[in-house]
Amino acid sequence: MLLPLAMSNNFSKIPQHIAIIMDGNGRWAEARGLPRLEGHKAGTENLRQIIQGCVDAGVKYLTIYAFSTENWGRPREEVEGLISILELFLDRELDELCAEGVKICHLGRLEAMPLKVRRKVEHSMEITCSNSRLILSVAWNYGGRDEIVYAIQKMIRENVQPQDVTEELVGQYLFTKDMPDPDLIIRTSGEMRISNFLIWQAAYAEWYITPTFWPDFNKEELFKAIASYGQRDRRFGKISGLNNED
Ligand code: IPE
Ligand code: IPE
Ligand code: MG
Repeated sequence: MLLPLAMSNNFSKIPQHIAIIMDGNGRWAEARGLPRLEGHKAGTENLRQIIQGCVDAGVKYLTIYAFSTENWGRPREEVEGLISILELFLDRELDELCAEGVKICHLGRLEAMPLKVRRKVEHSMEITCSNSRLILSVAWNYGGRDEIVYAIQKMIRENVQPQDVTEELVGQYLFTKDMPDPDLIIRTSGEMRISNFLIWQAAYAEWYITPTFWPDFNKEELFKAIASYGQRDRRFGKISGLNNED
């Protein structure tokens, strides 16, 4: 059960939106002599405590990068395994997430998914659509460049005029429409790159990189990342102390 713990008092500043690049599942499995898919399965077991941790801390938006547009280039068995892991995750967690007030969203292109899984994702979005305690966005078949291409195509189709194109308008054509930009992006497994994740929205995100592989990333690690965020001086190109986050 997701119990709110008023943890927010322990942090000097809470990110409204945390986005996570859940990386290192394959290396986690390889280090244990296991097939890579075992790492991907283990990488759904810890999600519950991360979701709980976000609720405890008072985070409103959690976005998780689960499958990139480039991940289709992996061996077929791994791709198929990742699709069924998404399905299993929804089968296992949906009722509880729904009961606990989590709203599930999807970022990316659903149409590339097998119909059965697509229906499950759509169903999970439908039944949680009026929840608001935590907005959980699953980036699956998501690519930041693909998102921008999609936005441009849509603007052209809708005959948007050049003088009407503003940063705010572009934001309304992205998959993250109506969501605040991520304040904190966490990447596990030590890699220091964006890998096509939220490339527009990450303009002023704070980064937290940990060597921990994703399946070992737990609530304690999450709280370390939030505490680190609390120490950051977000200047947004301005000068310290000018109420930059207004
Ligand atoms: C992240 O783990 C999950 C996906 C990209 C789907 P990886 O599978 O990339 O794990 P490593 O980076 O190979 O260890
Ligand atoms: C990014 O991880 C994608 C996800 C976590 C879903 P990758 O493992 O695919 O990224 P690269 O290849 O190391 O940049
Ligand atoms: Mg990886």
